[in-house]
Amino acid sequence: MVQSTAWLLGALLGLIWVLPVSMTPTTAQCTSLRTLESKLICRRRYMKHNFPINYTIRVHYEEVLRLSNVTRLRVRVEEEKDLQDVWLLINQEVLKRLLRVLPERHPSYKYTADLEDLFRKVQQLFPPPSDERETPELIEEIYNRVKDPNSKGWRFVTPKSLLDNCYRTMHCLFKDCFPSQDGEQDYCSFSYWRKGRKRQLQDT
Ligand SMILES: *[C@@H]1O[C@H](CO)[C@@H](O)[C@H](O)[C@H]1NC(C)=O
Ligand SMILES: *[C@@H]1O[C@H](CO)[C@@H](O)[C@H](O)[C@H]1NC(C)=O
Repeated sequence: MVQSTAWLLGALLGLIWVLPVSMTPTTAQCTSLRTLESKLICRRRYMKHNFPINYTIRVHYEEVLRLSNVTRLRVRVEEEKDLQDVWLLINQEVLKRLLRVLPERHPSYKYTADLEDLFRKVQQLFPPPSDERETPELIEEIYNRVKDPNSKGWRFVTPKSLLDNCYRTMHCLFKDCFPSQDGEQDYCSFSYWRKGRKRQLQDT
């Protein structure tokens, strides 16, 4: 009995391992993104209330990935997966930047570190770009500029707005993972978030 349970568990774990290889959004990917979403919901407390008024941090231009960026990039790349990869990379960089300005005892430190962990888990479920296809030049350029320590394009942004961007573009890029009871939602349109603002404020 114990043995067969162990076997079953092994088989299940094996299945979970195999799932992410497929290219369509998997249940495992959506589950990890939804865990991330539930953490991001309380960003107002950790990224606004715990900071001085109008506090900003310095980030690369490319680290400000808004809905408008996604719309603009989308017409220039062939695969949605490229944009999803960009989203993963940029937001991980953003979290690193936030952690760099937070002392370990800051009330937002643990929250930010937890987010970073969750991102790592999401990343593990997304296969790395395949060797068969070259990364589009446009995407390559974004990667290079984000990684360039001597970049001259800096902007000052509030931590909360960085995570708002993260939250909204996540819904836009992985909309299948966030079905809504009111039917199809246009998460990629700015007006959706303007309308939803009141509701979101109540949640946080
Ligand atoms: C914060 O920024 C807003 C909008 O730019 C401005 O109206 C307000 O005076 C600023 N508050 C402080 C304390 O600097
Ligand atoms: C997003 O758009 C802004 C300009 O609105 C630009 O500075 C930034 O580099 C863009 N980000 C990406 C990742 O393309």
